[in-house]
Amino acid sequence: MRTQVAIIGAGPAGLTLSHLLYLQGIESVVLELRSREYIEHRVRAGVLEQGTVDLFRSAGVADRLDRECLVHHGIELLFERRRHRIPLTELTGGRAITIYGQQEVVKDLIRHRLEAGGQILFEATETTLLDLHTSSPRVRFRHGGEIHELQCDFVAGCDGGHGVSRTFIPPGAVSVYEKLYPFAWLGILAEAPPATDEIVYANHERGFALHSMRSPRLSRLYIQVPRDEPLERWPDDRIWEELRLRLGTDDGWTLNEGPIIEKSITAMRSLVTEPMQYGRLFLAGDAAHIVPPTGAKGLNLAVADVRVLAEALTAWYREGRDDLLAAYSTTCLRRIWRAEHFSWWMTWMLHRHEDEDGFLQRLQISQLRYVCTSRVAAASLAENYVGLETV
Ligand code: APR
Ligand code: PHB
Repeated sequence: MRTQVAIIGAGPAGLTLSHLLYLQGIESVVLELRSREYIEHRVRAGVLEQGTVDLFRSAGVADRLDRECLVHHGIELLFERRRHRIPLTELTGGRAITIYGQQEVVKDLIRHRLEAGGQILFEATETTLLDLHTSSPRVRFRHGGEIHELQCDFVAGCDGGHGVSRTFIPPGAVSVYEKLYPFAWLGILAEAPPATDEIVYANHERGFALHSMRSPRLSRLYIQVPRDEPLERWPDDRIWEELRLRLGTDDGWTLNEGPIIEKSITAMRSLVTEPMQYGRLFLAGDAAHIVPPTGAKGLNLAVADVRVLAEALTAWYREGRDDLLAAYSTTCLRRIWRAEHFSWWMTWMLHRHEDEDGFLQRLQISQLRYVCTSRVAAASLAENYVGLETV
């Protein structure tokens, strides 16, 4: 088998890259570990920046997104039992965020790729990357019970935070910067109309809570729990009770409750790999960097990476230029470190930390008050949240 670009992983990064390359007449094959059914139903993030939506529109894959998404012009910060609105659109010259589940993005991209004759091999296992430092790398994998070898010009490692691509880079060839947080998010999807029009981020003495949504009938909610917390400790009643406490306000606002149809725990970490390239292997999305979900940046960074990579590969194939490929990592890392800082800062400001004398808690409340009363501080949060155009 031969293709121009071998893409490992059919998440938002791998699928968007495959589509953008197709629009430029560049061939790719996507290898995905899991089944189509599995990746189309895995509940993940759901906040798209303006730039991400604009890219999907210009790439012609936003038909269903435009029909079904929810556009939000602000977010709310809840602390000391009061909600404070950050008017994102007003503070950012008209930009907004869009609520649309990551698995819906994945479904749309898979449909568009397959309709255009694109090749996605699901349930491809034992993926091994070979000869990455030569001009003709190879990918060996098992599919349909047989071992195959894919020859290519480039490999795009888009296989997420638990992928294998990164492991084929020799030790010492890249640096990894990492921070683990001592807490995790327990997330639920509930069949209940959202009790709010906009996302609510809550700082509470019992820990962080978040009220988000997927549609007018589906609420998505999260609570901070200790790292390595077993899910069994959280029967549905206990989750609702904790959400009621942490999202409690003095203005009579109440949650809408309903059957919980999905429940999972996500560990929180920050990680950056530098550079995001080794020979002909280019890492993109979660395979290269992880952010804690508090800034809602993961999916947007993944899409921003592959936009840069698709442009660089196009310049290489069309004009024989390698300067954009050489600059890929540096170009992406500027945006990534900005998002790393923003996500770390939001996480710091909103979660409960080890804090014996309450010093950190007082700093947090002071910072939250500042963000909610100073237009300049609010604008700083807003421009990072909707996504900076230039970084
Ligand atoms: N071989 C092939 N595919 C693999 C392998 C492997 N060895 N390991 C993992 N994969 C697949 C996963 O099954 C997944 O479908 O790679 C895909 C990676 O997709 P994502 O994890 O969604 O990563 P990415 O496309 O970078 O998107 C980042 O995902 O975790 C969220 O918050 C994050 O929203 C962000 C987004
Ligand atoms: C979500 O809707 O899943 C969501 C919203 C905001 C975040 C993270 C996740 O910061």
